[in-house]
Amino acid sequence: MVPERQYKTPLFDAMVNLAESRKISFHTPGHKSGKGISTRFRKFVGPKIFTIDLTTLDEVDCLQRPVGVIKEAQELAAEAYGADHSFFLINGTTGGNHAMILSTASPGDEILIARNAHKSILTGIILSGATPRFFLPAFDQDLGMLLNVTVEGVERAMAQYPKAKVLSLTSPNYYGVAADLRAIVSLAKRRGILVLVDEAHGPHLHFHQGLPTSALDAGADLCVQSTHKILGGMTQSSMLHLKGRDIDYPRVVKLLLLLQSTSPSYILMASLDLARMQMATEGEKLLGKAIDLAQDARCRINRISGLSCFSEADLRGSDFFLDVTKLTICVKGLGLSGFEASAILNTEFGIQVEMADLCNILVIVSIGDRRDDLDQLVAALDSLAGRGTRPRDRRAVPSLLPPLGQQFHLSPRDAFFAPSEYLPLTKAKGRTSADIVTIYPPGVPVLVPGEEVGSSAIDYLRSLASHGARIDGVLELDEPQIRVLRD
Ligand SMILES: Cc1ncc(COP(=O)(O)O)c(C=O)c1O
Repeated sequence: MVPERQYKTPLFDAMVNLAESRKISFHTPGHKSGKGISTRFRKFVGPKIFTIDLTTLDEVDCLQRPVGVIKEAQELAAEAYGADHSFFLINGTTGGNHAMILSTASPGDEILIARNAHKSILTGIILSGATPRFFLPAFDQDLGMLLNVTVEGVERAMAQYPKAKVLSLTSPNYYGVAADLRAIVSLAKRRGILVLVDEAHGPHLHFHQGLPTSALDAGADLCVQSTHKILGGMTQSSMLHLKGRDIDYPRVVKLLLLLQSTSPSYILMASLDLARMQMATEGEKLLGKAIDLAQDARCRINRISGLSCFSEADLRGSDFFLDVTKLTICVKGLGLSGFEASAILNTEFGIQVEMADLCNILVIVSIGDRRDDLDQLVAALDSLAGRGTRPRDRRAVPSLLPPLGQQFHLSPRDAFFAPSEYLPLTKAKGRTSADIVTIYPPGVPVLVPGEEVGSSAIDYLRSLASHGARIDGVLELDEPQIRVLRD
């Protein structure tokens, strides 16, 4: 039974009421309910949206010190997600990851980090001055993909770094592969270790039994979710959830005050209020439809010669669970890289996928998709496969496993701020990286500040770039330049 109050949207209602009251505004934002906005903008989006682009006013409460409708909206979110406290975020999961790291790790504290972390976890480490202790997730050679961390891998890391009192995980990963969070949390709790989960790709998990267990349901202490990535939140809107007594709640509040804008977008926050209401009241039905669409497309794609799309069955017996709304479509069998397939789908079929890597394209199926969208995807893939298999590219195929876990010379924070210089990537071997270098997306760091630049990292980055991947964190001149510590 859905509690009646979950149908409420206190923040959005207050915004609409204020907009409709047509009070004379001598406050920010300067466009004054759209009267001062560019005509082109207003013509395209219509006039109404500007009337709810508000600022902190009594009627609509204050994110920095919520006492009214924002407080109520956050409490409803906490109830819907099973959290003790939920916080609205207006700088995406990036901001939430920063808050999560900064509120649990002080300078010098050791923190266990699964190396499939998004770069925002690492930027959080730079800000906090904590000492990361990395451990590796499992890698699947056939899929050419990092899966997630195993329970055994986490246990080994805990034994290797007994001083670490915080564990940071990313689950599910971009491809929807979730770790066995229940088992990992119970391991951590026995050792008094806090569990933080970057659940950017999992704001929907809690609302459907057919999806992997959510971080909070597994007992995590803190988690951050990109409501905007998967649900009805507007881009940049995320939530941070806290559960249990082991987290210093006032410190989290203080950190969010420090990190978030004093002029948060009410449109973003309203979208969180509405997305929560939508999930709490009809999430199961909407997600059920998305799951059915995705599973049906998965079956049809797997019948196309040269393509494969892994399923829950492929992970059975492992430590991993699959969010089946993610379709990871391996195009190796067509003699194409994921980057090439993605470009063809875009330019020739008008279909934009979420991401591509060397072997795969990633399709997100959400509550916003309709059967016709999936039919068009399957038809386009069928047509692509019908062109026949191209002989595999003759250029050296890069080692698929990112060369993670090189030697560390300095903490990420010290290395980031140390005197540095730019060098062409090819000349950086043996030097210490001063920046986070990733292939984006998915944004998993190949190099972290303080880490030695090994030849395998250089080869990996160069060969992936030659296959169409984007290197993030380098200066793009004739040759990518990487920031390293001065000798
Ligand atoms: C695992 C993961 N964490 C965090 C982020 C950052 O999230 P946001 O874009 O909401 O700031 C991303 C973005 O792709 C991500 O994939």
